[in-house]
Amino acid sequence: EFIKEVTGIKVLEKQLKDKLNLDYAVVVPGDSDNLDWVKSEMGKACVNYLKDQLIPRQTIGITGGTTMAAVAEMMTPFQDADKCLYVPARGGLGERVENQANTICAEMAKKAKGNYRLLYVPDPLSEDSYKTIIEEPSIKEVLEIIRKAGIIIHGVGDAVMMAERRKTSAEQLRLIKSREAVGEAFGYYFNQKGEIVHKVRTVGLQLEDLKHAEHVIAVAGGRSKAQAIASYFKPGQSNVLITDEGAAKELIRGI
Ligand code: F6P
Repeated sequence: EFIKEVTGIKVLEKQLKDKLNLDYAVVVPGDSDNLDWVKSEMGKACVNYLKDQLIPRQTIGITGGTTMAAVAEMMTPFQDADKCLYVPARGGLGERVENQANTICAEMAKKAKGNYRLLYVPDPLSEDSYKTIIEEPSIKEVLEIIRKAGIIIHGVGDAVMMAERRKTSAEQLRLIKSREAVGEAFGYYFNQKGEIVHKVRTVGLQLEDLKHAEHVIAVAGGRSKAQAIASYFKPGQSNVLITDEGAAKELIRGI
């Protein structure tokens, strides 16, 4: 029975890798929609992957959300990669404090015995404030570090759920719905075809910066996120996916 399960998981990983054009895929057993510990398992899988990839003094950009919080929780010091620097990829994006990139970043650095830099910028920003803030020397310095991050780890969410969780204005929520957004990552909203249909205006990593990173790791699971994950991967921005069986099975069925 156990062997059968392991083989099943391996098959799912291979199918995902091929379908989403990934360098690496991890599927943990279970569905995090129903079981919280499955999210922790994804966190653990992410930390294991990092163990093999991280080199000393590397910069790691991370986003927020409950899955990323699970990654932080599982973080341990890396024997072969000390003095790494953790930075938030973008601003808080309207999340509760415990789910904000800044908080998770500090937590990760503490557990990994690394360093961190934070971004103190409100979001979303008006066009005018945005222009002024990115010229602020202390902000500029952190932004440059973020843009050069070699590893990015991020969550993916369901578009409408994320818009609501962020207390997005009624007007923007209408827009997100009318443009049929299904997925969200880094403050970008994607429709089923993978087109960007909306973007939260804030400082930090922009989607085009992902090209410069060596590893872009998406950590997202739960059957309910399958469509969101598929939409985000249509343009193929990340090369690694850490997910669960719930999402993986649905993704394979749907793509
Ligand atoms: O708001 C930060 C963020 O990483 C989003 O980009 C993403 O959609 C969401 O969190 C994922 O959150 P969770 O892991 O809680 O589903």
